[in-house]
Amino acid sequence: MSKSAITLSRITKSFGSTQVLKEISLDVSPGEVLVLIGASGSGKSTVLRIMSGLETADGGEIWVNDVPLHNRKRSSEICGHVGMVFQQFNLFPHKTAW
Ligand SMILES: Nc1ncnc2c1ncn2[C@@H]1O[C@H](COP(=O)(O)OP(=O)(O)O)[C@@H](O)[C@H]1O
Ligand SMILES: [Mg+2]
Repeated sequence: MSKSAITLSRITKSFGSTQVLKEISLDVSPGEVLVLIGASGSGKSTVLRIMSGLETADGGEIWVNDVPLHNRKRSSEICGHVGMVFQQFNLFPHKTAW
């Protein structure tokens, strides 16, 4: 679709009655470093979870390396190729990095 590595187009996401993402659009070029800055609870992690396929958006489109992640049939093509370091580092408190 585009030459961007990642494209978000009008992404929306609500948890219950709380709308967290309101038509978020952004483009990331290959090799570009992009920093998301915002207040705690403003939706930064939700954007990252949607980009990595851990969460699905309610609306809008997301493309990663030209794969339409909003298409559930194709989202598995990307999930194994996107990494994320969680803020809460001990995702598995009973395990070490080793
Ligand atoms: N799984 C969830 N269920 C319900 N509410 C959630 C969930 N994940 C995030 N939220 C809410 O969405 C908002 C944005 O959260 P988050 O994306 O973690 O913000 P940030 O990473 O910017 O601190 C917060 O109000 C948070 O409580
Ligand atoms: Mg966060």
